[in-house]
Amino acid sequence: MADILRLLCALLVLSIPVSSQVSELFFPGFKDVGTNLTLKGIAEIEKNLGILKLTNDTSRLMGHAFYTSPIQFKNSTNGKAFSFSTSFAFTIVPEYSKLGGHGFAFTIAPSKDLNSLPSQYLGLFNGSDIGNSSTHIFAIEFDTVQDFEFGDINDNHVGIDLNSLKSNLSADGAYYTDASTKQNINLKSGKAIQAWVDYDSAQNVLNVTISPFSSKPKTPILSFNVDLSSIFEEYMYVGFSASTGLLASSHYILGWSFKIGGQPQHLDLASLPSIPIPRKQHTALKIGVSVSAIALALSAISVTIYVFVKKLKNAEPIESWELELGPHRYSYQELKKATKGFKEKEILGKGGFGQVFKGTLPKSKTQVAVKRISNDSKQGLREFVAEIASIGRLRHRNLVQLLGWCRRKGDLLLVYDYMENGSLDTFLFDEPKAVLNWEQRFQIIKGIASALHYLHEGFEQVVIHRDVKASNVLLDSELNGRLGDFGLARLHEHGSNSNTTRVVGTLGYLAPEMPRTGKSSTGSDVYAFGALLLEVVCGRRPIEPKAKPEELVLVDWVWNRYEEGKILEVVDPRLDGVYNESEVVMVVKLGLMCSAYGPRSRPNMRLVMRYLDGEVEIPEEVRAPSGSHVPGFDDFVSSLASSSSFDKMSFYSNRDMDASYASLSTSPLCLLQGQTR
Ligand SMILES: *[C@@H]1O[C@H](CO)[C@@H](O)[C@H](O)[C@H]1NC(C)=O
Ligand SMILES: *[C@@H]1O[C@H](CO)[C@@H](O)[C@H](O)[C@H]1NC(C)=O
Ligand SMILES: *[C@@H]1O[C@H](CO)[C@@H](O)[C@H](O)[C@H]1NC(C)=O
Ligand SMILES: *[C@@H]1O[C@H](CO)[C@@H](O)[C@H](O)[C@H]1NC(C)=O
Ligand SMILES: *[C@@H]1O[C@H](CO)[C@@H](O)[C@H](O)[C@H]1NC(C)=O
Ligand SMILES: *[C@@H]1O[C@H](CO)[C@@H](O)[C@H](O)[C@H]1NC(C)=O
Ligand SMILES: *[C@@H]1O[C@H](CO)[C@@H](O)[C@H](O)[C@H]1NC(C)=O
Repeated sequence: MADILRLLCALLVLSIPVSSQVSELFFPGFKDVGTNLTLKGIAEIEKNLGILKLTNDTSRLMGHAFYTSPIQFKNSTNGKAFSFSTSFAFTIVPEYSKLGGHGFAFTIAPSKDLNSLPSQYLGLFNGSDIGNSSTHIFAIEFDTVQDFEFGDINDNHVGIDLNSLKSNLSADGAYYTDASTKQNINLKSGKAIQAWVDYDSAQNVLNVTISPFSSKPKTPILSFNVDLSSIFEEYMYVGFSASTGLLASSHYILGWSFKIGGQPQHLDLASLPSIPIPRKQHTALKIGVSVSAIALALSAISVTIYVFVKKLKNAEPIESWELELGPHRYSYQELKKATKGFKEKEILGKGGFGQVFKGTLPKSKTQVAVKRISNDSKQGLREFVAEIASIGRLRHRNLVQLLGWCRRKGDLLLVYDYMENGSLDTFLFDEPKAVLNWEQRFQIIKGIASALHYLHEGFEQVVIHRDVKASNVLLDSELNGRLGDFGLARLHEHGSNSNTTRVVGTLGYLAPEMPRTGKSSTGSDVYAFGALLLEVVCGRRPIEPKAKPEELVLVDWVWNRYEEGKILEVVDPRLDGVYNESEVVMVVKLGLMCSAYGPRSRPNMRLVMRYLDGEVEIPEEVRAPSGSHVPGFDDFVSSLASSSSFDKMSFYSNRDMDASYASLSTSPLCLLQGQTR
């Protein structure tokens, strides 16, 4: 036994030095790599050319290529990272010549299997692990799409990324011809570019240099003081990662050289394989040449001018970020026609973000709802669109589907499925247009819970709705509840006044932590959902201006009744006592649980779903939502009263009170902010 153990130990001791012996790699082309590279995703070696292709220009792909064996990056005795140097040649060929998508990164990672996503994540991270130092990811990104999320400087930059996609340092694609003259490089030009990454562990300096030539410029474009000892584990995998999103490029590596503790072998661009250039754009040119008749050319020109002048009025150049927007792009003319020129009569509703028009698309004759959002701030719009780009792909039967969009100057037009029965609030409050029975109400609640659960957990990234409320719940022809307007609240946060964080949401649905932190979370969505539950049971707004003072705030009132053991007193009298009592009690309790003061005390949507589906029994006793129940509200009222904008009190009796809170942005929001600072 002891012998076997000793043998095993000996083998172990032996095996580590064997793998650690690899400290230099040289691939002047990738023809004969055999098993030395491990390819994942759609990465492949183009055999006949000897080129490593990380992605082609199809949407949402990822490709990884790592040297198969791990390499020792750290001294096991003192834990200090080793110096290393690498150079590689790459070519990026975008689908559309001016638009990249998304980029690639030279990567050093603890594993060859990255649990990651495409698009802006470059195949390196998955959204929840960004910035987490336990990822141990070192990357030099060559990024061709500007992601606001990560503070990208532009759509043509090189960046140093340590455990994150927010670059620690980044620079325009460029090289120095001498110490002071900088020459720009278009990373996505389709031409070969060489890059050098040098880390000196004695000086703790990391340099990155690029050039369209084989010789290395003296001055790097990035020079960053960093000790990589904490980033590296003792053994790491080294290679490349690339991804595409809605915008896509082919990413190629032509050759690669790497060495621990010294200069790697020189790569000569001229002797590396190069990609053939199959350009798609020659057809137009040929046609142009073959048209010999001058008369024809002249008439073509005049037609062009005519069309151009005619279009000038409405046409807007497509910006790269707009292409990111998933769904269909409609022409302004089409939507103008659909809504009969945005006629007053076609208005379905107004909210904090703009007006909603009913429309019929001229070609397909389908009915749609067109939301017109005006925003003076182009930046705000742009960031918002970046957000829509990712949520445009959301699909759930309890979400109102975004069909497409159109931008014209500062206006953004969003086209949605038309919901025949309008919004839930018109069925609940004041004089409802029809009374929904309990079964219908319960069905609607479950549908919305399911949609929120999907937004929070079912999509590749967490989507926070930010404005869950009865007027954002729409009912289709079968009275199924569908959540609308997701992400729109974001626009307001990004709004024209971008140096202040605005509290977005609707009073009464606004979680107590919101005025304080200004940050929405899945927990604040749950809070708003709790308010919605109580509304649906009680047939009352979360803050009812017409009610007696002690009944003003719905959750307080329900809570009092619950404590008195008179829970059924809160049920909407319009139900005439016809309902499933255990379901009603469960929903009221759940509403109170979701209204808990601290976000952590609220259930998450997964648990909410399980309660609603009867998979989990609701607790017998619900604990008090400690703290004042609508915190911020009292302060809000008093600050309002003591301010010169006292006349804004009229807003309490405003029938359309749950029109977005954000629409009142000028005074109450500022007040709210003023008092929280
Ligand atoms: C691949 O690995 C083998 C064995 O580790 C080595 O002999 C060979 O030179 C490597 N090939 C390249 C291209 O690095
Ligand atoms: C790109 O790669 C994907 C996955 O391998 C493949 O389905 C697709 O056809 C390729 N596209 C092109 C244009 O080659
Ligand atoms: C690792 O560090 C120890 C102690 O500082 C040193 O003696 C040794 O030479 C180092 N090993 C390598 C491979 O640098
Ligand atoms: C993201 O990746 C980390 C490991 O890097 C993993 O622990 C985590 O579960 C992943 N998250 C998702 C949502 O896939
Ligand atoms: C970082 O990731 C580890 C492992 O995936 C996880 O346990 C930890 O909670 C994460 N830390 C943060 C701050 O997200
Ligand atoms: C690099 O950036 C990440 C994320 O932004 C940060 O957590 C980390 O501390 C930075 N590292 C250094 C050395 O600046
Ligand atoms: C990094 O660049 C600086 C010049 O900016 C140079 O002095 C230094 O030697 C370089 N270090 C490495 C490791 O290339």
